[in-house]
Amino acid sequence: MIDSRFGDATASGASTLGGHTAGQLLRLCDVAGLDMADAGSYAQTLTDALGPVAERPLDLPPPTPTFLSDDQTPVEFSLSFFPDAAPALRVLIEPGYGSAGLLQNGRTGLRVVREMARRWDFTTDRLDELEDLFFPASPQGPLTLWCALELRPGGVPKLKVYLNPAASGTERSAHTVREALTRLGHPEAFESLPPADGYPFLSLDLGDWEAPRAKVYVRHPDLAATEAGLLSRADSGPSHTDVEEFFRTAAGLDADADVDAGDGADVRLDRRPVLTCHSFTDPASIVPSGFTLHIPVRDYVRHDGEALARAETLLRRYGVDPAPLGRSLSAVTARRLEDGVGLIAYLALAHQQGRPPRVTAYISSEAYEVRPPAALESPRVEAVG
Ligand code: TRP
Repeated sequence: MIDSRFGDATASGASTLGGHTAGQLLRLCDVAGLDMADAGSYAQTLTDALGPVAERPLDLPPPTPTFLSDDQTPVEFSLSFFPDAAPALRVLIEPGYGSAGLLQNGRTGLRVVREMARRWDFTTDRLDELEDLFFPASPQGPLTLWCALELRPGGVPKLKVYLNPAASGTERSAHTVREALTRLGHPEAFESLPPADGYPFLSLDLGDWEAPRAKVYVRHPDLAATEAGLLSRADSGPSHTDVEEFFRTAAGLDADADVDAGDGADVRLDRRPVLTCHSFTDPASIVPSGFTLHIPVRDYVRHDGEALARAETLLRRYGVDPAPLGRSLSAVTARRLEDGVGLIAYLALAHQQGRPPRVTAYISSEAYEVRPPAALESPRVEAVG
């Protein structure tokens, strides 16, 4: 039951960026089974991390662009689902949003993460060791630092930091990733990564993690399902078929979908590229301990009703009750799902050694804008191989 303090997504009183996103967070906490005390303190943490832009009225345009979301909101939510458990709620934030320039954006990001570390008493050593690589004097885009909080019961979140391997130029990205992995104790990890068109993010777990990960995100333009099935380099983990099936369902390419892939043909996703993520925990191992497939579902559906239906199919396949996902969409927006696209930004399948697979849905805030539904043509169909 939603407590009156959480309001509902139809309430229009939240007219600032901070008020709007904090309201969404409070209602999502209710869906994720967090109590009011935790919800209130996490909403405050979000507002604090945004800093002065939290006060900015939403009827003013976005103060700066951000790559974090399509509509320039510096906040995105995600729900990660395991069988027989409440979903884990996370929030992704750009603390430097609204800064005059990337240099300042990065400095603010580092300051906010260090303040969080002091508050919850964990070390930023792993981040500090990489500062020269990711925070050069003349940083390049499209981001400097994002942080994600996993909102656990008890009021102390787990923290992840996302950095830009192209901070010193796209042509330096591979070198930067390799050097960062080496400094983090994984000198051979880079060699185990699959072929890449680029490395959009490097991510670090900070704080109270059982096995903190270093994660490398890899971009795969024009990827086909059969190729996706071959991208995991983890030695335990998803079968080729599991990954292929997730890909097909998320992209709308199932046999019963209205896209006819034809006999022996495989469809490439030629709009926003698929990403994979490879995580490293054990310095003794030269291969990753985890693998995630991220499908940017919003570019392959007409509207969010379709995206939700695909997500529900995937959740049921992994033994998860899909009802909380529908409730979480109502917690962030009062619009009809058919009236826009992009509320569900990505659907992901994550495998981490020794754990059951997880399905994650990334949920946009849409504080500034809703993308209108698309008149989508079928993805380009061509035979692969
Ligand atoms: N907005 C960017 C994108 O769509 C970055 C991003 C935000 C992202 N949330 C994500 C990437 C979740 C992968 C998964 O690529």
